[in-house]
Amino acid sequence: MFQVNENFVKLPQSYLFSDIAKRVAAYTQANPDKSIIRLGIGDVTRPLAPAVVEAMKKACDEMGVEATFRGYGPEQGYDFLREAIVTHDYRARGIDISADEIFVSDGAKSDTGNIGDIFGKDNVVAVCDPVYPVYVDTNAMAGRAGNLTAEGKWDNLVYMPCTEENGFAPAIPAKKADMIYLCFPNNPTGASITYEGLQKWVDYALANGSVILYDSAYEAFITEDIPHSIFEIDGAKQCAIEFRSFSKTAGFTGTRCGYTVVPKELTCNGVSLNALWNRRQTTKFNGVPYIVQRGAEAVYSPEGQAQIQETIAYYLHNAKVIREGLAAAGFTVYGGVNAPYIWLKTPHCLTSWAFFDELINKAGVVGTPGSGFGPSGEGYFRLTSFGSYENSVAAIERIKAAF
Ligand code: MLT
Repeated sequence: MFQVNENFVKLPQSYLFSDIAKRVAAYTQANPDKSIIRLGIGDVTRPLAPAVVEAMKKACDEMGVEATFRGYGPEQGYDFLREAIVTHDYRARGIDISADEIFVSDGAKSDTGNIGDIFGKDNVVAVCDPVYPVYVDTNAMAGRAGNLTAEGKWDNLVYMPCTEENGFAPAIPAKKADMIYLCFPNNPTGASITYEGLQKWVDYALANGSVILYDSAYEAFITEDIPHSIFEIDGAKQCAIEFRSFSKTAGFTGTRCGYTVVPKELTCNGVSLNALWNRRQTTKFNGVPYIVQRGAEAVYSPEGQAQIQETIAYYLHNAKVIREGLAAAGFTVYGGVNAPYIWLKTPHCLTSWAFFDELINKAGVVGTPGSGFGPSGEGYFRLTSFGSYENSVAAIERIKAAF
């Protein structure tokens, strides 16, 4: 008999957001007349920027003409997009990254999940707790996480609690970690990191031969003077890989485009990680559609920039409405300043899932239970600011009335 990958069998039955979608579907089926406001999964609701749509239409036309038709593109992304990324996201901030260090992909979820392919199975992996579940689940799939214990922790992972007490800032772990996942601005807590705070991680990684897997998918939401990229930090190019996404920055959750930066200076015992990731991508990935990459390129045009900034400001305004509305209603609230996520303490010491049920039943509002992101998320709850303004306001009114 063939064998399956036993690591998959050890996983919880479903992925967090699939689980929530199932529960919401069951609720709406049982209560067809109740209106639901969805502030659960971080999925955007504003349309694509007109500059992006125009660029994709033009690219579509090119694909319909023999002279300009394109078949397989470069697996790493077209030069026009890699150059635009380098110019606008890195050189504009004084960061020296070159186009061949950029790997365009279908999004940060895929890349943060797939990056494990190039790392050894015996590496010790450290994750924040709570954490974006993709980092944990994909390491479990690869056999790096060990077994899931009764209290919901994988016994081979190093958990770095991010709690109210430490300001949701992970401390350097006592056990030496080889692969360290960091996400700032943070999903799910909305916390951010300072230049000094990030320098400590880079110094740790350099001193211990660790690699930092830095997810900066939410950098476009930064409003304060904090790092947008780990490569703003001295030494980071020798110890970090960075993941970026057009999903939240430019409304590409359904269009799919992101990129990963693997610096050429990043090596392990003389092996280039840039070369390994290139080898992985050229074998397992056939590139992002030309039409989508032209759309992503248009994000960097002057019109595209003005249009996406307007949308980001819209979501940040929603975040303010949610944060301030909940605080005024007596909730303890975090995040929502440099991030589209609001992290709140559940009222009356309810568990995260008990609050999920109460919130949907009493207020018709869907959020994400903090415990779904890890044991330290218990007693917390995440709301996103990616809904419409009207729904954000209505959700707060309903929550105030219900609790
Ligand atoms: C989230 O809600 O945490 C995100 O939407 C998940 C994702 O980007 O995959």
